Amino acid sequence: MNKRLASALLCAALLGSGILRADNIVISNRKSSILITAPKGESPRIQYFGPRLANPGDVFDSGSAFNDPVYPQFGVQCSRETAIQATHNDGNMSLELVVESVTRENRDGGQVTAIATRDKFYPFYVTIYYKTYPDCEVIETWTEIRHLEKKPVTLYRFASAFLPVRRGDNWLSHFHGPWGAEAYLYEEALTDGMRVIKDKDGVRNTQNSCPSFMLTLDGRPDEQHGMVIGGTLAWSGNYRIAIDNDNAHTTRIFAGINEDQSQYILEPKEVFTTPVFAFTFSDEGKGGVSRNFHRWARLHRLNHGGEQRSILLNSWEGVSMNVNQEVMDQMMADFAAMGGEMFVMDDGWFGDKYPRNNGTSSLGDWVVCKEKLPEGIKGLTASAREKGLKFGIWIEPEMTNSKSELFEKHPEWVIQQPHREMHKGRGGTQLVLDLSNPEVQEFVFGVVDKLMTAHPEIAYIKWDANMTLFNYGSTYLPRDKQSHLYIAYHRGLENILKRIHAKYPGLVMQACASGGGRINYGLLPYYDEFWTSDNTDALQRIFIQWGVSNFFPAVAMASHVSVDTNYQTGRKTPLKLRFDVAMSGRMGMELQPAHMTDEDKAFARRAIADYKLIRPVVQQGDLYRLISPFDKTGYASLMYVSPEKDHAAYFVYKLEQYHNMPRPAFRMAGLDPQKRYLVRELSLDGKPIPQDGKTFTGAFLMETGLDFEVGGEHASHVLELKAAE
Ligand code: DGJ
Repeated sequence: MNKRLASALLCAALLGSGILRADNIVISNRKSSILITAPKGESPRIQYFGPRLANPGDVFDSGSAFNDPVYPQFGVQCSRETAIQATHNDGNMSLELVVESVTRENRDGGQVTAIATRDKFYPFYVTIYYKTYPDCEVIETWTEIRHLEKKPVTLYRFASAFLPVRRGDNWLSHFHGPWGAEAYLYEEALTDGMRVIKDKDGVRNTQNSCPSFMLTLDGRPDEQHGMVIGGTLAWSGNYRIAIDNDNAHTTRIFAGINEDQSQYILEPKEVFTTPVFAFTFSDEGKGGVSRNFHRWARLHRLNHGGEQRSILLNSWEGVSMNVNQEVMDQMMADFAAMGGEMFVMDDGWFGDKYPRNNGTSSLGDWVVCKEKLPEGIKGLTASAREKGLKFGIWIEPEMTNSKSELFEKHPEWVIQQPHREMHKGRGGTQLVLDLSNPEVQEFVFGVVDKLMTAHPEIAYIKWDANMTLFNYGSTYLPRDKQSHLYIAYHRGLENILKRIHAKYPGLVMQACASGGGRINYGLLPYYDEFWTSDNTDALQRIFIQWGVSNFFPAVAMASHVSVDTNYQTGRKTPLKLRFDVAMSGRMGMELQPAHMTDEDKAFARRAIADYKLIRPVVQQGDLYRLISPFDKTGYASLMYVSPEKDHAAYFVYKLEQYHNMPRPAFRMAGLDPQKRYLVRELSLDGKPIPQDGKTFTGAFLMETGLDFEVGGEHASHVLELKAAE
């Protein structure tokens, strides 16, 4: 490499805030680097992404530079996939972006590098942003698109990110599954051609597929070893992640809003900002990628990410819509006696003209049903206060039913199209409100605002959304901008959430969407957690939570103990397994405590007390996934370790039992090899394991592990490890 280039690279790497004069930009965090060449007046090119570069010039000397456009445009060299395609008003469909400037500034706890580009001919501008943080390994990237042409420009492609990867033995890990089986893990070797991960639901974007993936750089995916890239699109609407193999050297990743039916008419001066694509590199396998995302979430992306969550009882599976003051009082009293901390009243509490007794009516009529709750919400908050519990409430504010006072008053507020009969959702009557409309946004904000103003004691809101966007069309959007609806809906939602967040910063919110339909980082700046799945079967939850944990931390993963013959699967599992699975996430309960035996209540009391002991490490510690349920050994295990490595929680589950089956070694990970740890079994319902009360070094626990009989099918154990003084 020549000396000029070397010193330019060094200079770029060392520059702080301000305009970067060097042509070569290095964007690094502790473990990884991106190298971009960006000479003024030329096409900016991404040359490298991978392990942190000690000497960026090596990329060129080794012949491994990508030399791909940072943001591939359609038009001139048009045979490849593109990140952006715009049609100018004169009919020209091409772009040729060149560098105007590169700047770097400190913003919101991180450092933002901005590569400002302009078309060679048209006054059309794209700025590509990369944000790194000093305290975590995730890089955020997004773009801003604008123009000063005389007439609108139509955007047909507008990815958030483009990322090339050196093609090798690349394996894709991704997460897929319908209602009740969300986020199952699928892994496959990447073959030639293009693999697309996408969603087109319009409202809930993780019910079938998730906008998150991992890609290994060097062979089969492994939890603890290997170089892995992970990426997730922080967006709540339709997405498209395309992974394109060019049969030779490079795998190209494009991630962004799904542009299908969403071409965007960009007015002069309007700024179109694409959602953040967050990505990371790890040389500690998939587990490293997960820990990087969890840390980023807790520090920068999840509402109240560093705070401890309450143990709650949700009324849904216990009493469905049959809520009333007496039953709520009884549930609260029973839960308080078990050591619970919060009660959440789910669906069924509202509707005046049309009381909500089933799914056919009342959404939109957010006034208390006086027949069921004569003392109103006040009566409930008072009862919760008296029992030492916090109080939370369910709403589904983006929706209405054709049988509701809201729909009678504002039929124009629902998403609809002319000349067609409306296709309705749940109950044969559910409809989606048109959040592109500012009046509707005001109404939805008002649902929360009115509740909170009248009842400041409400500590938690479960925000549900149970429908796909059907009847594509808006009475608010102009004729030539109907194609904006999918995007405008989610920008409208974000406006509402921003306002709620600003006015009620302490409010805890759960994102629920027919179970786990909204597990995405587009919403998590405003929500503290998500409902992981309507499937509360402990056995299936082990698989679902395993998948979700790849990108989302336990502090956000709501996991509830439900009744022993599970409503969704009909499977019977021991109360201990149900608790032990819930304890590996944000634990709660979802049943009618009146139906529990005294023995079960006593066990629940012990398990809740034990969860409080390990809650800090489960909710804020580092996750190590140890034995995957997807490996079909009949076992699954995982553990959390505190950042100081002085406290850990270990979980093992027996998924199936057959005679004389081999038992894997229960090795641990993430501990300090030098420290000695005292092992204590928690959530006990019988004799503890023989190692209970004994101490072992971290090295022994990680290299040899413990050996104990887990028990028969659906047995489980939870161990607490504490570093001995
Ligand atoms: C769907 C949610 O996923 C459930 O938890 C529950 O809140 C129901 N909606 C209520 O209608």
